[in-house]
Amino acid sequence: MIYGKRVRLRGVEKTDVPKFYEWINDPEVIENLAMYLPMSMSDEEKWFEGVGSRDQHEKPLAIEVKEGKGWKLIGNCGFFNIEWTHRVGELGIMIGDKTVWNKGYGTETMELLLKHGFETLNLHRIFLRVYSTNPRAIRAYEKARFVHEGTMREAVYKNGKYADIHFMSVLRSEWNARSEGK
Ligand SMILES: CC(C)(COP(=O)(O)OP(=O)(O)OC[C@H]1O[C@@H](n2cnc3c(N)ncnc32)[C@H](O)[C@@H]1OP(=O)(O)O)[C@@H](O)C(=O)NCCC(=O)NCCS
Repeated sequence: MIYGKRVRLRGVEKTDVPKFYEWINDPEVIENLAMYLPMSMSDEEKWFEGVGSRDQHEKPLAIEVKEGKGWKLIGNCGFFNIEWTHRVGELGIMIGDKTVWNKGYGTETMELLLKHGFETLNLHRIFLRVYSTNPRAIRAYEKARFVHEGTMREAVYKNGKYADIHFMSVLRSEWNARSEGK
């Protein structure tokens, strides 16, 4: 498991599926995600079955926070589209438990994933895409020191409107400078 100060990341279990099903059908949670159609429990179960055959580096991770003496599941995250020749990886995150939004968990999760991506997977560039309609996410990524690098204009149609998709990234050199306290 990957441990942070308040957050830990672990492999996804079958028992997580009902929570994921609840979250990916919550319009507020998926407002700024690529998914837009209702998902059935069997869709979600098929997704979970597919996890087993994914590249080990791209398996989704459950996000948990301390609650009493145990841990509480609040969302999931992970790397995908890793290109090993270029050592580039893309990140995604969904905190589905809305009661814990704006408490810094998203920022801490992204920092943990950056550490994992650079110091364990040995990536060179880690990037993400975020909709212009998602200021909470943009702010969390800025706090984790992702750099704005470009925009695909009117690239997504959601809720009757087009929105831009921003690209944000961190390079290994920036991570190294950060680790050296520069
Ligand atoms: C986006 C997400 C990962 C952020 O995680 P989080 O734990 O809620 O975020 P954090 O608390 O770390 O940071 C949020 C920051 O945005 C700020 N914020 C919240 N709403 C905002 C708004 N409407 N405008 C500007 N800033 C806003 C918060 O105040 C906080 O900044 P601060 O610490 O300077 O006060 C999480 O809310 C989530 O998963 N949402 C649903 C799915 C999603 O959108 N995923 C991302 C797809 S790219």
